[in-house]
Amino acid sequence: MKFYILTLFPEMVINGLNTSIIGRATEAGILDIEAIDIRDYSANKHHKVDDYPYGGGAGMLMQAQPVYDAWKSIVNRINKKPRCIYTTPQGNTFTQKSAKDFAMEEDIILLCGHYEGIDERVLEEIVTDYISIGDYVLTGGELPAMVMVDAISRMVPGVLGNGESGSSESFEGNLLEYPQYSRPEEWKGKKVPEVLLSGHHKNIEQWRRQQSLLVTSKRRPDLLKQAKLTKQEQKWLKEQK
Ligand code: ADE
Repeated sequence: MKFYILTLFPEMVINGLNTSIIGRATEAGILDIEAIDIRDYSANKHHKVDDYPYGGGAGMLMQAQPVYDAWKSIVNRINKKPRCIYTTPQGNTFTQKSAKDFAMEEDIILLCGHYEGIDERVLEEIVTDYISIGDYVLTGGELPAMVMVDAISRMVPGVLGNGESGSSESFEGNLLEYPQYSRPEEWKGKKVPEVLLSGHHKNIEQWRRQQSLLVTSKRRPDLLKQAKLTKQEQKWLKEQK
């Protein structure tokens, strides 16, 4: 899968995405992440990319021309128009479901905003998806783009190794993941739950499922409402309260 990131800070996104699992998948050729410097496409002799907003108001806006030309250079090069995500607090909230959905694409363009935003006219021309990573405002779109590339990439087949499966983790079936323990068996007087040492796979599976239900009901009751529970599980969960 290939990501094209349109940004004023290419080093920031590349340096942030070349380590650990994403870095390894890039080296293996499963992912390709290219940062395109919007400034390189400015028609202005001083490489200016921003200007004052018509009608007045605080701050500067990114101008349409450099953004459009940077986007067009990709489209001309690959001869198709991939989905183009604009990172904005005004967008739909990014979720695990959206990560899985975007992971089906072969190419994705991410447009990182800066200053007070981008001239509306170029957004209308090129953006297919307006996406926010949460209800707070950041200084630029680079961190959101990195968050999205990370979450989308994990869902691309081959990016996670065998030992790092994405199927038993948080948000699967609208439940959070169960608690996990490693060695030693006892730490600061706290013991690993007995069932996990039993080697009894069926019991372990049941315990984990119940712990998922418990942790979700405690921390994310809103999620639990969307989860599919058996009658028996609903009854069991009620008894725990
Ligand atoms: N740009 C600034 N804040 C943002 C947010 N919360 N999500 C996506 N892009 C943003």
